[in-house]
Amino acid sequence: MGRRELSIGLIGSGFMGKGHALSYALVGRVFDDLLAAPRLRLIADRDADTARRAARELGFEASVGHWRELVTHPEIDIVDITAPNHLHSEMALAALTAGKHVYCEKPLALDAASAATMAEAAREAGVVTMVGFNYLKSPAALAAKGLISAGVLGEVWHFRGAFQQDVLADPRQPFGWRFERSLAGSGALGDLGAHVIALAHDLVGEVKQVCAQASTVIGERPEALGGYGYREVAAAGTALRSVENEDAVQALLTFEGGATGVLEANRVATGRKAHLTFEVSGSRGAIAWDHERMNELQLYDSGDPADRRGFKTVIMGPDHPYYGRFWPVAGCGLGLGDTKVIEVYELLQAVAQGRPARPDFRSGAAVQRVVDAILESAQQRRWVAV
Ligand SMILES: NC(=O)c1ccc[n+]([C@@H]2O[C@H](COP(=O)([O-])OP(=O)(O)OC[C@H]3O[C@@H](n4cnc5c(N)ncnc54)[C@H](O)[C@@H]3O)[C@@H](O)[C@H]2O)c1
Repeated sequence: MGRRELSIGLIGSGFMGKGHALSYALVGRVFDDLLAAPRLRLIADRDADTARRAARELGFEASVGHWRELVTHPEIDIVDITAPNHLHSEMALAALTAGKHVYCEKPLALDAASAATMAEAAREAGVVTMVGFNYLKSPAALAAKGLISAGVLGEVWHFRGAFQQDVLADPRQPFGWRFERSLAGSGALGDLGAHVIALAHDLVGEVKQVCAQASTVIGERPEALGGYGYREVAAAGTALRSVENEDAVQALLTFEGGATGVLEANRVATGRKAHLTFEVSGSRGAIAWDHERMNELQLYDSGDPADRRGFKTVIMGPDHPYYGRFWPVAGCGLGLGDTKVIEVYELLQAVAQGRPARPDFRSGAAVQRVVDAILESAQQRRWVAV
């Protein structure tokens, strides 16, 4: 029997748009139990020419001139939003009003109030929503969650999480949407820190209180002329424009369950590439992960004999969540793109089965509340309740 089809309408064809398109192309080959095959029906971008080119390059059947045509199109089942942050809310609300399932990139919105409106609209629409916190889908992060839930660490005491990148550490990189408050909201915090908060919520529980500081170390960048991708470098003498949000944030955290922790988000962390890390420690053990070595989990068991006590490296393999869908042998390694394939798989299964996906807009709104609290704390230089 053939699989049911779900028609996808993708908005945006940049870094993440391409990642999502590749995941739809792969998901049916990786997952033989996929209940609904994605049909790459429509794509929209900032203008009709870009959308037409993107449709050709990414394998979509057709393109539209404006995203509003896509979100109301009768044949579209799932609206997939990979446009810059300021557009998420307007696009998602229009899609929800049209009764579509919505898959939206993180951060869910520019601030907690709009994220809450989106979560409420999703609840009322009764559709499936998902936010692109793909690192939650990494086999190691899922294995860590399983071990923590099974009590392997005992009582959870501490969380340490960071996302450090030097991807924007060159002052010659032009002023793009990520540096403009009305288009991006916060800077490193919403872009990178949101992933850490999502992991913290998933592994330890909700954050209750924060105390933070934020700084912008590259205060001005050259005006973007046309493109503003990560790899662009402006010519010397280009007019400068003031950066409107933070390059780095450090925060102390208190969790609902009593654990405490620290978080760092940094987009100018010289030498660091995709250094997304977490460490959770408890009364009986600890667990640590670094996305740059995403196929390894570090495990410490206080119950080991004293002369052999230390962190050990567990290499991901078919005994860990989802790994066996890709490879039958441990140590072959999954990559970032594979976490997107897993995310898309969970989304399609949830829609096909008419049940919620994880993390949904409610979870995305919870992350956004922590983002807002951290910004408020950094501005007012005091502890803030989430
Ligand atoms: N999950 C992750 O790990 C991850 C990684 C990178 C980016 N993101 C998120 O994905 C989103 C996009 O980021 P990106 O790096 O792909 O950005 P990008 O600039 O590479 O791509 C954005 C795309 O949106 C299009 N766009 C802009 N304005 C539009 C409009 N009015 N209508 C339709 N399309 C429009 C652009 O033309 C481009 O194709 C952001 O919200 C970002 O936070 C998530």
